[in-house]
Amino acid sequence: MGLGVFSLLLPILVGLASCHPIPGRKNFNKLLLISFDGFRWNYDQDVDTPNMDRLAQEGVKAKYLTPPFVTMTSPSHFTTISGRWIEDHGVIHNMMFNTETRWKYSFKTTQKKTEWWDNGVLPLWITAQRQGRKTASFHYPGGGAKYKGEAVQRSLVESYTHPDSNETEWRENIDIVMNWFTKEDFDFVTLYYGEPDNVGHKFGPETENRRVIIQQIDRTIGYLVEAIERHSLTNHLNVIITSDHGMTTVKKKPNVTEILLIDYIKFNDSVKFDIVDYGGFGMLLPKPGQEEALYQALKNAHPHLNVYKKEEFPERFHFAKHKRVLPILMYADSGYNINGVNHGFDNVLMDMKTIFRAFGPDFKKNHLAEPFDSIHIYPLMCKLLGVTPEPHNGSLAVTQEMLVDSYDQHLTLSHWFSLSTAGRELIKTAKVDQSA
Ligand SMILES: *[C@@H]1O[C@H](CO)[C@@H](O)[C@H](O)[C@H]1NC(C)=O
Ligand SMILES: *[C@@H]1O[C@H](CO)[C@@H](O)[C@H](O)[C@H]1NC(C)=O
Ligand SMILES: *[C@@H]1O[C@H](CO)[C@@H](O)[C@H](O)[C@H]1NC(C)=O
Ligand SMILES: *[C@@H]1O[C@H](CO)[C@@H](O)[C@H](O)[C@H]1NC(C)=O
Ligand SMILES: [Zn+2]
Repeated sequence: MGLGVFSLLLPILVGLASCHPIPGRKNFNKLLLISFDGFRWNYDQDVDTPNMDRLAQEGVKAKYLTPPFVTMTSPSHFTTISGRWIEDHGVIHNMMFNTETRWKYSFKTTQKKTEWWDNGVLPLWITAQRQGRKTASFHYPGGGAKYKGEAVQRSLVESYTHPDSNETEWRENIDIVMNWFTKEDFDFVTLYYGEPDNVGHKFGPETENRRVIIQQIDRTIGYLVEAIERHSLTNHLNVIITSDHGMTTVKKKPNVTEILLIDYIKFNDSVKFDIVDYGGFGMLLPKPGQEEALYQALKNAHPHLNVYKKEEFPERFHFAKHKRVLPILMYADSGYNINGVNHGFDNVLMDMKTIFRAFGPDFKKNHLAEPFDSIHIYPLMCKLLGVTPEPHNGSLAVTQEMLVDSYDQHLTLSHWFSLSTAGRELIKTAKVDQSA
């Protein structure tokens, strides 16, 4: 019965679409994507966060979000904005490097280096621009590069000396973004904050400092909601709040035996180039003829160090295929560092999980979503913006249920008022049928 009405209706809808082409942008709400770097999934559970709690009531909250491996800032942010695994998009590390010159560039120095970011996979800013949307990036990683020669229409890149935790500046940034939406009619803006990552690294995740910065973030989210109301954007702006990875406490001497590669290998003899500057992850380029010896020396060196040849790296990480990945890869078990800081670990570990929240006219209220991979945010954003996605590794099926039930009908029926009475009745019948 339901199917019957639908097959009857389908040609009418198709017909409608062809005689009244859906006029681009006006049908879609605006979208703001905010990332708070290094916000572990449960950071709001041991501290008062009234604003985040309220948003969970007024929107969508996922139990947690799984970032891609390697759980680092630039690689993970680029997966969110492109919907592609890291081995596809090629931003495989926070640091840009050159194995010939042995140069390494820090996270902030890479921000305008197109050659690090533009590897053939288009981020959503560019795809959306090509389809007539106006897009901007405020400090979001990768927003300062060009892609196939095209820059993001409006892009602010963090300066080297940018302070991470100035609350006044955080609010100013929100005001600026609101004006982009209202005064300049931007459709899609990405906004990035360097906290709580900075505090997590400096003091550790289980500290009062971390709880204090989470309260600052919560106040900022409260300010955001006020600003949205003040700018009359409540019914026109969808907001996604997410992050790139979690954080774990680093285990130190004398409690554990730390992983020091120099205890097992002679760098000068066997390693041409290394990148072990970041936490629980490292890569080595052996000197010619040294690959096997290096691998054997490290393979069983430390009970909490996992060492692989590139071609044997587990597929579930979707990481190792890219040509930039060096021949020997290693990652440490939770909390163990390979000469450095405290994320970059296996993305199955709970401490690496992060947050996903969303609210706005197209999102359900008081909806608790099951955990999902951050790769699926991309098709959701495309859907919200009415943008045809590039090939990607996500699936809209994972996130579709977060949208209000009428979402699709709403768009298809943007010409509701131009329909005949008979047409309206027919569609009403179909809707009833569908929900039965
Ligand atoms: C914080 O930011 C505000 C606004 O940009 C600025 O006026 C103030 O000097 C900053 N405070 C510090 C401690 O840097
Ligand atoms: C060693 O472990 C104890 C007990 O968990 C902890 O209090 C201490 O801070 C640890 N020491 C270091 C250096 O991590
Ligand atoms: C490794 O080589 C560098 C530069 O060639 C040198 O300064 C350093 O002392 C060497 N280290 C060892 C352990 O031989
Ligand atoms: C990810 O998507 C790209 C583009 O469609 C495809 O080529 C690639 O095989 C996908 N990766 C996986 C692991 O499915
Ligand atoms: Zn990060």
